[in-house]
Amino acid sequence: MINAVEKRRLKGKTILVVDDEEAVRKVIKAYLSELEVNVVCAESVARARYCLKGFNIDVILSDIAMPGGETGIDLLSWCRREHILAPFILVSGYISPDDVRFALSRGVQHVIHKPFKKRQLIEAVLSSFAVSDSYSNLVNSYIKEIELNQQLFMAAIDGFAAAIGARDGYTLHHSEQVADFAVLLSRRIGLDEKNIQTARIAGKLHDIGKIGVPESILMKKELLTASEFDVMKNHPAKAAEILGSLPSLAAVIDGARHHHERFDGSGYPDGLKGDSIPLMGRILAICDAFSAMITERPYRPAILPENAREEIRLNSSTQFDPQLVNAFLSIPEIAEA
Ligand SMILES: [Fe+2]
Repeated sequence: MINAVEKRRLKGKTILVVDDEEAVRKVIKAYLSELEVNVVCAESVARARYCLKGFNIDVILSDIAMPGGETGIDLLSWCRREHILAPFILVSGYISPDDVRFALSRGVQHVIHKPFKKRQLIEAVLSSFAVSDSYSNLVNSYIKEIELNQQLFMAAIDGFAAAIGARDGYTLHHSEQVADFAVLLSRRIGLDEKNIQTARIAGKLHDIGKIGVPESILMKKELLTASEFDVMKNHPAKAAEILGSLPSLAAVIDGARHHHERFDGSGYPDGLKGDSIPLMGRILAICDAFSAMITERPYRPAILPENAREEIRLNSSTQFDPQLVNAFLSIPEIAEA
């Protein structure tokens, strides 16, 4: 008999029973009724796959040999390929030693031989539910940890961006705007979600090197002298130096270091040309210039978006990557700004 505590633990759990013989499915279902779990039955591997896609299955109990060519071993392989980790119990009249080895290597919990006793089945199923619980606890705790790390990471990034903004209100607004544009452009050129997030971070941090630029230069209303401009020009390399201490930020560092390179090779700090400029640098160069132009600065008023677009177009191939210019200008939010 199953005690009350176990019954509570099993409440709402679902087991998938896969067997081509209706009589066997009925016997298993009858044996399992004591557990008061949900039982979903499938008469073939194809049907089992369908059920696994549609239902939340906690434990799989499957026959091996079934008509139609696909076996319980095939179902097991498919599950693991699809990252379905539900504990798997094989029930079979005959299983070869090779199949046993393969099944165990794929994490099969139990192999039950037909004919089996009710007690045997119940015990195998109960221990598999326990494994299923510990799997889901483990997965949930990993997910929580990853989410927490991501939140902490983004909070640190925003902290960095705020540190620049504390000295210079323009840079904070500008960095947020460059991040937004960089996300739009990255998405437009089909980068994957991870690289889009990298572009966002690179946008937020691209000017972090301005922390090393004195306020007298940063806030100056008049045009900078040549020597002041030299100090200002140091900010991309300074950014790469600051971010260099953070692991796993390689593409962000590339973006920050190279956002003032020019496509024709006349930019700074490294005078890189064309495709040798890292993609994140070429993306930020356009987003940075566009954001700077449409924003009012101490030494000039904001430029109208249509004029800023024209300026970007005019500098395609000289300052900016021409393919990225086309992509940027075709973004609806930019084209209609
Ligand atoms: Fe910059």
